[in-house]
Amino acid sequence: MGYQGHFRVWRGDASGGAMEDFTVEVNEGEVVLDVIHRLQATQAADLAVRWNCKAGKCGSCSAEVNGRPRLLCMTRMSVFAEDETVTVTPMRAFPVIRDLVTDVSFNYAKAREVPAFRPPEDLEPGEYRMAQVDVERSQEFRKCIECFLCQDTCHVVRDHEENKEAFSGPRFLMRVAELEMHPLDTADRVEAARSEHGLGLCNITKCCTEVCPEHIAITDNALIPLKERLADRRYDPLVWLGNKLFRR
Ligand code: SF4
Ligand code: F3S
Ligand code: FES
Repeated sequence: MGYQGHFRVWRGDASGGAMEDFTVEVNEGEVVLDVIHRLQATQAADLAVRWNCKAGKCGSCSAEVNGRPRLLCMTRMSVFAEDETVTVTPMRAFPVIRDLVTDVSFNYAKAREVPAFRPPEDLEPGEYRMAQVDVERSQEFRKCIECFLCQDTCHVVRDHEENKEAFSGPRFLMRVAELEMHPLDTADRVEAARSEHGLGLCNITKCCTEVCPEHIAITDNALIPLKERLADRRYDPLVWLGNKLFRR
């Protein structure tokens, strides 16, 4: 059975805005994005929201529901009480374009700062077989849909605009870790993680892992191993060099 749900949605643009109250019909099995679409269709035709797949796979519909970073298309209305007021706001860590749509170009800039995979120059196609364990390790990180919810939730940048220059955020530190763990990558990722991508600013709060819709163990499987490799390197740089030279 449907019911009339109470919603508070942020409306505005870069110059400012405010929460607006709406009463919208909610039906069984719906997600927050369904309600936002009904709101657009019936009461607020100019409400801006970004979405594409409605299946939790494109990473477009990221926003905050009751202050928590979430995919609008994967947040079921059944998790809220029928008399609860559900707030929907844009991601807080990024500049608003309009209503629920934010400018996520910070993330694209950070992506460009991670140098591409660099295999040994003399390696010919077919000369190397990946061990299954190495394939599986990076496969987890490859599930990332680039929703940037982890970037939005990390306290290092969420309320600290000034940290954005020095910190790449969990999604891109994870990319650095993925490449560092690749047996054929020859770039020096570990020192760059510290000096270029701000690994030291992460204090392992794990909020990024908690909000990841792909359930990637960002902190345990990417950030902590990267920190350990950095600590090992500092403890004994020759061991690192040896590992690098003899790991093939
Ligand atoms: Fe989204 Fe998870 Fe990828 Fe972060 S790591 S961008 S939360 S899918
Ligand atoms: Fe931020 Fe995740 Fe580290 S939330 S502080 S990147 S563990
Ligand atoms: Fe694609 Fe939500 S619309 S992840």
